[in-house]
Amino acid sequence: MMQHRPHTTVVLAMSADGKIADIRRSPARFGSKADKTHLEKQIAASDAVLFGAGTLRAYGTTLTVSHPTLLEHRTREGKPLQPVHIVITHSANLNPGINFFKQPVKRWLLTTTGGAISWQGRSEFEQILVLETPTGKIDTPAALQHLATLHITRLVVLGGGELVASLLELNLIDELWLTVCPLILGGTTAPTPVEGRGFLSHLAPKLQLLEVNTVEQEVFLHYRLQQPAD
Ligand SMILES: NC(=O)c1ccc[n+]([C@@H]2O[C@H](COP(=O)([O-])OP(=O)(O)OC[C@H]3O[C@@H](n4cnc5c(N)ncnc54)[C@H](OP(=O)(O)O)[C@@H]3O)[C@@H](O)[C@H]2O)c1
Repeated sequence: MMQHRPHTTVVLAMSADGKIADIRRSPARFGSKADKTHLEKQIAASDAVLFGAGTLRAYGTTLTVSHPTLLEHRTREGKPLQPVHIVITHSANLNPGINFFKQPVKRWLLTTTGGAISWQGRSEFEQILVLETPTGKIDTPAALQHLATLHITRLVVLGGGELVASLLELNLIDELWLTVCPLILGGTTAPTPVEGRGFLSHLAPKLQLLEVNTVEQEVFLHYRLQQPAD
C-alpha cells in the first residue's frame, strides 16, 4: 500500500544534448535569468528542497528565495520565508567551511548512523535524520514518509543525477521540470539528469507531458510520472 509522503518534483536544467554539467562537474550556471526565476519559483512553492552531496560539493551554496513577491506569498500562506534545505549523503563528508553553512536557511542532514557522527552536537544542521535499511543504507522511502510527518508536504529535488536515479528506482517522484538550454556540453562522463544503473526500455518509468513553455532560447518541459497503475 502507498504510504503518505511529500509530493515530489524534480527541477533540472540541461544542455540540448542532455547533460546537467560539463565533464568537470562544474556548477551548472548555463541557464538564463528566466531559468533561474523558474527554479526560484519552484523552490518558493516547496516546504523543503532536497539535494545530493555531490550537488552541494559542486556548488558550495544553495539557491534561496529572494524575489519580494515570492517571499510575500510565502508569508501570506503562513510559511517560513525559506523552505528547509536537506542534504542527502551516506558519508556526510562535507566541508563545514562552504558558504552553504552561512546561508540564512534551516539545514537538515539525511544520512546514516556513521554519517551523523561528525555533525552531532554542532550548529550547522538543525536536524539530523537517520533512517537506515538493515544494510546501513539510507531508507529513502521511510525518510520521505518521515518528512511528511514533519509537515513537509511539497518537496523539490534539485539534483543531481545520482539522487534522481535513486528516487526514480523507488518510484518516489511525481513531477519533473526539465529546462533545455541552448548549448552542447557532450562528454561521456558529464552527468545527466538520471545516473544510476539505468532502466531497460520495457521497464522505464513513463512520463506524461503536462506543458511546454518556450522563453527565448530555452524550452521548459513539465512532466508527470505515470504511476504503474495508470
Ligand atoms: N543542471 C542542473 O540543474 C544541476 C542540478 C544539480 C546538480 N547539477 C550537477 O550535477 C553534478 C552532481 O551530481 P551527482 O551525480 O554527483 O549527484 P548528487 O546526487 O548530487 O550527489 C551524489 C552523492 O549524493 C549522495 N546521495 C545521492 N543520492 C543518495 C541516496 N539516495 N542516498 C544516500 N546518498 C545519496 C551520495 O553522497 P555521499 O557520497 O556523500 O554518500 C552521492 O555520492 C554536479 O556536476 C552539478 O553541477 C546540475
